[in-house]
Amino acid sequence: MLLNRRTLLTGVAASVVNPAVSWAAQDASLLTPRPASVQLLPVEYPKSDLWLFGDTTPGPEIRVRQGDRVVQQLTNQLPQATSIHWHGIRIANAMDGVPGLTQEPVAPGESFDYDFVVPDAGTYWYHSHNQSTEQVARGLYGPLIVEETDAPDVDAEHVLVLDDWLLEASGQLFGDFGSRHERSHAGRVGNYITTNGMNAYGVDAKRHQRLRLRLINASNARIFELGLQGLDGWIVALDGMPLQEPERVQRGFLLAPAQRVDLVVDVTAEVGNEAYLVRFEDGQSLAQTAFTVSDTHATVRRNPVAALPPNPTTQIVSLDGATKTRLIMEGGAMGRLRSAMFEGEQKSFRQLVKLNQFWAFNGEIGLTEDPLVTVDAGETVELDIVNDTSFPHGMHLHGQHFQEVLQDGSLGPLRDTLLVFGGETRKIAFSASNPGDWLFHCHMLSHQDAGMKTWMRVRG
Ligand code: C2O
Ligand code: CU
Repeated sequence: MLLNRRTLLTGVAASVVNPAVSWAAQDASLLTPRPASVQLLPVEYPKSDLWLFGDTTPGPEIRVRQGDRVVQQLTNQLPQATSIHWHGIRIANAMDGVPGLTQEPVAPGESFDYDFVVPDAGTYWYHSHNQSTEQVARGLYGPLIVEETDAPDVDAEHVLVLDDWLLEASGQLFGDFGSRHERSHAGRVGNYITTNGMNAYGVDAKRHQRLRLRLINASNARIFELGLQGLDGWIVALDGMPLQEPERVQRGFLLAPAQRVDLVVDVTAEVGNEAYLVRFEDGQSLAQTAFTVSDTHATVRRNPVAALPPNPTTQIVSLDGATKTRLIMEGGAMGRLRSAMFEGEQKSFRQLVKLNQFWAFNGEIGLTEDPLVTVDAGETVELDIVNDTSFPHGMHLHGQHFQEVLQDGSLGPLRDTLLVFGGETRKIAFSASNPGDWLFHCHMLSHQDAGMKTWMRVRG
């Protein structure tokens, strides 16, 4: 076994092989966003000019233990102001990285010190939260992995960051990040799909190995439809939070922008074959990530997959006495929005189109002076989400996870991003345990930019 920095610092089992760069929490200057050229397209094509953290795509993996402190200085070497949001972390509000709500944007040449504790284990990610339609599309994101103190027994682990890029044959990104069509339809959907920055991403595996796969959808707007081939798998966590019971992957599952899925998979493909994380697209199954089965790890399969240890996050005990509110989503192409409030004035849809604004929450476009709801810490919030539009929206709540209140009244798993299809009404609830001003927005980033955001206040 080769001792490296990571095994020394974190004591991770020697059999854990991770192709991504891993860093200890002590390296506090990993996240210097700046322009960098990267070979995204196959080698016969030119490189792509991106904006990256640490000159890599995805950005440097930050890997810590549950309860650790993360200290990172953002030094902005971009031509635009920026900020970092630590997606899914139950964080102190001042560290949440939302310009206009929790901090000032960090101007070019300036820096900002992020310093917070990670209370929950799981798969998270960080990304720019300023002009994010452009900055995330240019590559400003990376994985944030919080290991369990009592991690599950697996033979190897892979962090798989999925993205799609909107590229020209020159290798350059399509430069119109404010496209009217993208903003009013399904968002900026790319034409070049990658895992960990590579179109044909593959890793080695052995038959009957048990792997942990941490999937992160870093795309602006693509809803990935995924499945397994030559792998027998269970979903063990959603958006970082462990499921009470692992759920066997039957046909497939969806991964909306910003969502994460943790899988435990057993390699069942024969030696000499490939197993795949597959992507279903236009009736085809395409290889998203390939696992080349080079050898046999064991002659027999392992025991059933156990649940991950639960996080200390506050689950809902009862909806009695909950503060109820409602979010009506309107607008977009093929929608019914006639008019809405924008910057303090009622505007007709025609006027809004000219302003490149398309979506309203409860008749308001963009952040309002007053929050959608104000509660005291410890209260429960119940929120109906009415999607009166023709498009799906991935709704993300900052600062705490919520649970969906299902048709039969039971509570779904803890999540931080919920995919709500056009025409659907869904109900979520959360126990407001984290004081602060928290953004609630669509993670199809062009939609967020074209109106789909609001906020909630939890008084400490
Ligand atoms: Cu992942 Cu408000 O964002
Ligand atoms: Cu949306």
